[in-house]
Amino acid sequence: MNNNRPIGIFDSGVGGITVFKEIRKYLPYENLIYFGDTKHNPYGSKSKDTVTRLSTENVQFLLRKNVKYVVIACNTASALSLHLLRKFYTVPMIGVVDTGAKAAIETTKNGKIGVIGTRATIDSGAYLRALLKLDPKLKIKSLACPLFVPLVEEGWSNSKVAELTAFEYLKVFRKIKADTLVLGCTHYPFLKPVIVKILKNTRLIDSATETAKAVKKELEQKSLIREKKTRPTCTFYVTDAPERFKKIGSSFLGYDIGQVKLVEVE
Ligand code: DGL
Repeated sequence: MNNNRPIGIFDSGVGGITVFKEIRKYLPYENLIYFGDTKHNPYGSKSKDTVTRLSTENVQFLLRKNVKYVVIACNTASALSLHLLRKFYTVPMIGVVDTGAKAAIETTKNGKIGVIGTRATIDSGAYLRALLKLDPKLKIKSLACPLFVPLVEEGWSNSKVAELTAFEYLKVFRKIKADTLVLGCTHYPFLKPVIVKILKNTRLIDSATETAKAVKKELEQKSLIREKKTRPTCTFYVTDAPERFKKIGSSFLGYDIGQVKLVEVE
């Protein structure tokens, strides 16, 4: 096994950069390939069949790049398609739902957990199933927050509009006294400062961090960690509008992400 091969990360667009960032932090020597399907973004309002078809194409693209491991950074694709993708491909693969659910269970004290995500993620019931499988006695409230993604992409995460929107969405979690809230969407970690103002006593679960920790653990277990401790490569591919991706991605990461390559995957 050549451990120098890259880890492939895919998302519906730029949001999965939150997962990319955490993976770089936990695995600083790994070569990374990030694939953002910007042409078909957003996934959060699409059907299971469509998301699964697109996700399959994304995995195939990454496999053509000879990746040793696939990270599905997109919550929607993880929720709707991971179990199917695992049936078709032998490459080790991880999604963000199970890792987020596990961290929520380890965090909650009162057994009341909130989950927020895109409409498709919430309607799929994937978080609910993952949480109840770990503890059937939990009380869970799930809520789709479709306005959050455009707010973050507009660069308005810390604005009055974001505060008002978050207040409307999140008041239900105050009412039920959830002590833990799963941020079940790539973009939501950017809203943490606004969310903590509204849910002061609630612990926020960032699936990006949890997933990065899980990737590290699995690579270690499978002896797939890159041995060379030299500067790794990070390559970004998108299916549309590379300039827009570069602009938002660089602002998300706080540094210039360099060249973003445009590719066709169909
Ligand atoms: N990446 C998606 C997710 O985490 C959010 C954006 C979209 O709807 O495609 O669910």
